[in-house]
Amino acid sequence: MTRVYVTRDLPTSILHPLRDRYDVDVWSGDQPVPREILLAGASESEGLLCMVTEDIDLVLLQTATSLRVISQMAVGVDNIDLMECLRRGIAVGHTPGVLTGTVADTAFTLLGAVVRRFPEGETEVRTGTWGPWSPFHLTGGDLHGTTLGIVGMGRIGRAIAKRSTGFDMSVVYTSPRAANDVEAERLDLDTLLEVSDNVVICAALTEDTRGLIGAAELRRMKRSACLVNVARGPIVNTDALVAALESREIAGAGLDVTDPEPIPSNHQLLAFSNCLIVPHIGSASVRTRQQMAELAVENLIAGLEHGEMPARHPAGGQELAD
Ligand code: GLV
Repeated sequence: MTRVYVTRDLPTSILHPLRDRYDVDVWSGDQPVPREILLAGASESEGLLCMVTEDIDLVLLQTATSLRVISQMAVGVDNIDLMECLRRGIAVGHTPGVLTGTVADTAFTLLGAVVRRFPEGETEVRTGTWGPWSPFHLTGGDLHGTTLGIVGMGRIGRAIAKRSTGFDMSVVYTSPRAANDVEAERLDLDTLLEVSDNVVICAALTEDTRGLIGAAELRRMKRSACLVNVARGPIVNTDALVAALESREIAGAGLDVTDPEPIPSNHQLLAFSNCLIVPHIGSASVRTRQQMAELAVENLIAGLEHGEMPARHPAGGQELAD
């Protein structure tokens, strides 16, 4: 019987179609599966259903000689050695589309919160330092009437652009491909950083985007601008971000992802009350996580049955995180 390894427990009804067809082993801990157990599970399996928390690297792929299909419950697949999968003929599935709206909502929520200085305000309320109303206390930026810079115009970038229009914002973007369907101006990164009132990152983590936003890029941003990252932590150089917040080169940051991740509670970034960090929950609505899990199961079954996967990741990994 075909063996399948699933790296995190999922609702019984979602795993049912897998259990019906295959010999399924599931890691049921609520922490990510330990590496040795993952290696052992993958080495015996033809199918692997995994999460962003697993390192699907060369060592694992060399060990897992029977592996034919990897199905990841995420849109981003930077934790998977795609080139090695391609070389070994292993099909890789992911979960684009179903999470687009939820991640765009998260980006917008972070953006509004940091632009209007909610984290600083909330700290005052919680710490009893909320003084009498004062004319210019905690005044921040606006969303309406401003220009939003979107780094990465894939599905999520487009969904953020759509929300921006509703907020009377204008949009500029960078992307390897022109997005002619979006009412937005395509710019090079440096120009985007200079003209944007705020910047949102929603590009895939690839060798091209790792460290894309460093000290020089942060310096180009307006001092009144906030940076939001809903993509992957390593796209922003963390030390440079700390320095930029320290020297007030930017007004604030809203991060769903960090580098390292999880970020230690004594990390320098947490010292800034104008830096709002949430723990990689961009797609974490109940409905969306359910749809992601269902799509991951569908991808795995389709891949193993030699059918067309509903969402096969384009080999090579050069696509935008969308
Ligand atoms: C989550 O980070 C995802 O890539 O879906």
